[in-house]
Amino acid sequence: MRKKYAAGNWKMNKTPKEAVELAEMLKPKMTTDKAEVVFCVPYVDLIPIADVVKGSNILLGAENLHFEDKGAYTGEISAPMLKEIGVKCVVIGHSERREYFNETDETVNKKIFKALEYGLTPIFCCGESLAEREDGITIERIRIQIKKGMKGLSAEQAKAVVVAYEPIWAIGTGKVATTEQAQEVCKAIRDVLSELYSKETADEISILYGGSVNGGNAEELFKMPDIDGGLVGGASLKEDFEKIVKAF
Ligand code: PGA
Repeated sequence: MRKKYAAGNWKMNKTPKEAVELAEMLKPKMTTDKAEVVFCVPYVDLIPIADVVKGSNILLGAENLHFEDKGAYTGEISAPMLKEIGVKCVVIGHSERREYFNETDETVNKKIFKALEYGLTPIFCCGESLAEREDGITIERIRIQIKKGMKGLSAEQAKAVVVAYEPIWAIGTGKVATTEQAQEVCKAIRDVLSELYSKETADEISILYGGSVNGGNAEELFKMPDIDGGLVGGASLKEDFEKIVKAF
């Protein structure tokens, strides 16, 4: 049985002090045995938050990593650094990183390999732009992102990846995809994974939806057969995240 996820993506929000306050406020509300709860937080917040979530069901997540172990990459953070401080999951290939930081399908692929090498769960993001949706090429776009992002992974490695479908036009806009739109693409992702590996492998891979998920729409989205939870931006910074965690 594949796992369900309620993963918060805090993005570039919360100083370490504010982060601890938020995590302390959310922590008692996060209890569930139906899903993995993840806080993906800015690098400088990881160490203080590791302390807050210790002994709870909350998993610590980073928002990015570099694809090398170490070296002359000023300003970057590596998988062994994240591993050592207790990080379990890492967001890879978020559309904001693709748009503003030159993240490509090729670097995403390298980062997925590196995360897996260190036993970190990659939360691998894909998604189409509004123009691509309007041109009717959503599924083609997603299939390419999945094939390139997961290129060379064995079936065992693929099973350790969490895929997050995030239509770019729905991120931070309040414009949530309809449950049918989200399900259609998540199903298409499972189909391509089934072609690349096998139905059995594809059925074990968790596929999340992200883009304006909130306490009011989570339950309906998570009921869909191919949606195994959410990657949540704005609503993960508020008490509302409790409703998402309890929506399974
Ligand atoms: P949002 O962000 O929930 O604020 O739309 C989702 C994301 O970017 O992961």
